[in-house]
Amino acid sequence: MRKKIVAGNWKMNCLLEEGQKLTSEIVNMIKDEPIKDVQVILNPPFVHLHGVKKLIAGVDNIYLGAQNCSDQNSGAYTGETSAAMLTSFGAEFVIIGHSERRAMFNESNELLTEKTKQALSNNLTPIFCCGEPLEIREAGTHEAYVTKQLTESLFGFSEEEVKKLVIAYEPIWAIGTGKTASSDQAQEMHSAIRQHLSSKYGKTVAERISILYGGSCKPDNAKEIFSKADVDGGLIGGASLKSRDFVDIAKSF
Ligand code: 13P
Repeated sequence: MRKKIVAGNWKMNCLLEEGQKLTSEIVNMIKDEPIKDVQVILNPPFVHLHGVKKLIAGVDNIYLGAQNCSDQNSGAYTGETSAAMLTSFGAEFVIIGHSERRAMFNESNELLTEKTKQALSNNLTPIFCCGEPLEIREAGTHEAYVTKQLTESLFGFSEEEVKKLVIAYEPIWAIGTGKTASSDQAQEMHSAIRQHLSSKYGKTVAERISILYGGSCKPDNAKEIFSKADVDGGLIGGASLKSRDFVDIAKSF
């Protein structure tokens, strides 16, 4: 059985008290309404990691993740944060290759390979993001676009390494736009991603990898999207900043 996962990507939101309030609310709701068999992951900005870790300590099924890590081990890289630091702060996951980082910080497929290596060698589970822009979707070449992202970043890894990944499919046209992919569009791409992984690593490996959907996922559409065979959960942006919405999404399986 693949793991079901709902991960919140706070992006660059929440001042200190806001982040603490949001986390406390989520923790209290999950204590009151335990969510079985779903891993809930909070991915706050780096400065919140320590505080969030303290608030989630001892609560079942809630995990800490980060939104990025350096491709380097340590040293003179001002402003960067290493995968080893994230582990030392109690993170167990890290988002790699979010489309905002690819677009705004010029993160290439090659760089993302290095970041994935850093994550894996520091016992972090990469939540590796892929997804096409609107013009590629409209041209009908979205499957080729996304599978190329995966080939170029990930196909140098061994079977043992790839097994540890979580993949997030986030069509860029659906991120923060309120325009979600239909459940059929999500399923079609998730299935294509799984087949692509299977073509390189075999069916057993591909069947174990959780593939999350991201892009305007909300409580009112999560159930339908998560009902699809190859959708194993969601990577949630805007709705992860509202405790009730986020917990409701986590309860949508
Ligand atoms: P929204 O849920 O706000 O569309 O963001 C999705 C996303 O980018 C999560 O990483």
